[in-house]
Amino acid sequence: MLTSFFVYFCLWNFSVVAQTGNETGPIPYRLQTPLLDTAWTNNFSTHPWPEHPRPLLRRESWQTLNGIWTYQPSSGGDDLATPPSLPLSQEILIPSCVESALSGIMSSGVMHMWFATSFAAPDGRNESERVILHFEAVDYETTVLLNGKRIGFNRGGFFRFSIDITENLKPDGPNDLQVSHVLVFVFDPTDDAAYHIPVGKQTRDPSHIFYTPCSGIWQTVWLETVPATFITSMDIAAGMDGTVSGTIYSSQNSSQPVNIAILGQSGKVLATYDGFSDQLFNFTATSPKLWSPDSPNLYDIVVSMGLDVVSSYTGFRTISSGIVKGVQRPLLNGKFVFQFGTLDQGYWPDGIYLPPSLEAMLFDLKLLKSLGMNMVRKHIKVEPDLFYQACDQLGLLVIQDMPSMPVGGSPSPSDQAEFERQLEIMVNEHKSYPSIVTWVIYNEGWGQITQPYHPEKQIAERIRKLDPTRLINAVTGWHDHGAGDFHDSHHYAEPQCGTPFYSRPGVPYDPSRIGFQGEFGGVGHVPELKNLWPVQKAVSSIPDTYELNEDLDAYNYRSHQLLDHLRDQVARFACSGAVWTQTTDVEGEVNGLVTYDRRVMRVKATQWKEDIQALYDAAEGRI
Ligand SMILES: *[C@@H]1O[C@H](CO)[C@@H](O)[C@H](O)[C@H]1NC(C)=O
Ligand SMILES: *[C@@H]1O[C@H](CO)[C@@H](O)[C@H](O)[C@H]1NC(C)=O
Ligand SMILES: *[C@@H]1O[C@H](CO)[C@@H](O)[C@H](O)[C@H]1NC(C)=O
Ligand SMILES: *[C@@H]1O[C@H](CO)[C@@H](O)[C@H](O)[C@H]1NC(C)=O
Ligand SMILES: *[C@@H]1O[C@H](CO)[C@@H](O)[C@H](O)[C@H]1NC(C)=O
Repeated sequence: MLTSFFVYFCLWNFSVVAQTGNETGPIPYRLQTPLLDTAWTNNFSTHPWPEHPRPLLRRESWQTLNGIWTYQPSSGGDDLATPPSLPLSQEILIPSCVESALSGIMSSGVMHMWFATSFAAPDGRNESERVILHFEAVDYETTVLLNGKRIGFNRGGFFRFSIDITENLKPDGPNDLQVSHVLVFVFDPTDDAAYHIPVGKQTRDPSHIFYTPCSGIWQTVWLETVPATFITSMDIAAGMDGTVSGTIYSSQNSSQPVNIAILGQSGKVLATYDGFSDQLFNFTATSPKLWSPDSPNLYDIVVSMGLDVVSSYTGFRTISSGIVKGVQRPLLNGKFVFQFGTLDQGYWPDGIYLPPSLEAMLFDLKLLKSLGMNMVRKHIKVEPDLFYQACDQLGLLVIQDMPSMPVGGSPSPSDQAEFERQLEIMVNEHKSYPSIVTWVIYNEGWGQITQPYHPEKQIAERIRKLDPTRLINAVTGWHDHGAGDFHDSHHYAEPQCGTPFYSRPGVPYDPSRIGFQGEFGGVGHVPELKNLWPVQKAVSSIPDTYELNEDLDAYNYRSHQLLDHLRDQVARFACSGAVWTQTTDVEGEVNGLVTYDRRVMRVKATQWKEDIQALYDAAEGRI
């Protein structure tokens, strides 16, 4: 870390308070009391998420800007013309959703808002080096001002954007002259009828299966110093035959000599390659240990391009679709591997879209792994990169959904174009994570144009070109028109996975594609009040749960029955994987393996482990 290079200041402690016109300063940060807390709520830091936020492209020279910033709601988009004076009215913890208790704000219904911080220019920086400001995710539209000048704009709540700020930094000089001021204006039109945007499960009027929204800077903000010519991004894929292929992109967009070294255990070089940036490369490593959920072997990578040296990693594995004993199957390293995991919403009562810490995030994933699951379906949300790194390391196959546009209404051509643009960003930004095996375009018709032309057909073809190394689940549930690699049905509670019978809204199984149960289970149980999200609208929607069980014995009995029916379908029919709803309770949904506060474990671990192992055994019997 560049701790010694970047020293940043809380502006109101600093000598430039004179320019603010407010002697009392902002309201100090205070953790708000969430409606429901977790074991990690109070164990948070005012320097949250200290981990390097981009594990697939790391340099030594970086500095987080996470911490206490100032915040102020704003009346409208016109305010951008007259930025407020500093400091803003209230301290806020960054990253966070302004709706969350962790933010210190916990307000709802804000559509326009300002955020501010300041930092000193990198000290002792070589004149030729560049300074890049990275935002990992801001929901939804962001305008960035540095030292009063507009330097960047981004649209989309889930993806990274980066700005070269070198020319706009305050020049080197004594003390306060070096301090640069960042002002961020955010517009989040969730639920505004004029905006049909990818929101996933967020709504300003939450109940039942839709939840509290997230607005603002909800992932890490950081600075990085790079050489004049630097690596901007890398696509790296490694297959079961040892082939490593991809592209190293340079800031010059032109061929620069690059060296790629794949390192084995204890830093031993497994393979090395000399080639050029901005063009496809491929080379072969001899006998790598393959990556799989059972043995998640990863290899470190060092890429050098001129003065730039970056670290990354990969896993050797091949995803494909093929016929095994007459049935279309998803293959991992050439073998049929039955995929079983949960629908994973990634919501938290204290942080909404972002857990209090990495430790909290890992709790959910380790729970799945401990029950013997080998997969997780990341449901209409995109997580911080550390989530995907954890799946790589733990050995969890990831089915990654595109965040859906709102249910109901129909996207205009420009809404649709923006949805597809963001989908391509999702694929490009994440396609080097070995654990991701499948891209999902649409969930249950949400935001899906269902009349012909059936957009998912051409979208699936385009995604296939962007990323030929993975499978595509064009529609999980409901309006299937034959696109993609899967025929995926949703049935609560009873599964119908690749079966020769079907009920509404199902259609007969299409044997030319992989039979998949994209959602089932969903059996619920009302927890004690102390483990429940205490919001009337959420509580009132509990009777809408697909099935409620009186107690945990009944919950486990029904879970066992459903898993056993699924096992029978795996043994008899064309069932290649299934997604259990869901990892945790969320607000008014009470069907988690664990409650929303992660305090009451519903599952009897021994029984579940046996039932899940029985699924793999049934699949093994079909090979
Ligand atoms: C609290 O945070 C510290 C430091 O991050 C960590 O070591 C500890 O395990 C955490 N405790 C709990 C209960 O989360
Ligand atoms: C200064 O800011 C505080 C906190 O926002 C506010 O309560 C106070 O009214 C402001 N004072 C002036 C003089 O603007
Ligand atoms: C910056 O660093 C590069 C590489 O180390 C070196 O060639 C160059 O002379 C340096 N420039 C300055 C102004 O120090
Ligand atoms: C390289 O391409 C990017 C994206 O098109 C562009 O923003 C950038 O200015 C280009 N850089 C150079 C040096 O041409
Ligand atoms: C590897 O690159 C060579 C030429 O650079 C090309 O002919 C070959 O098709 C590539 N192989 C793969 C698997 O991409």
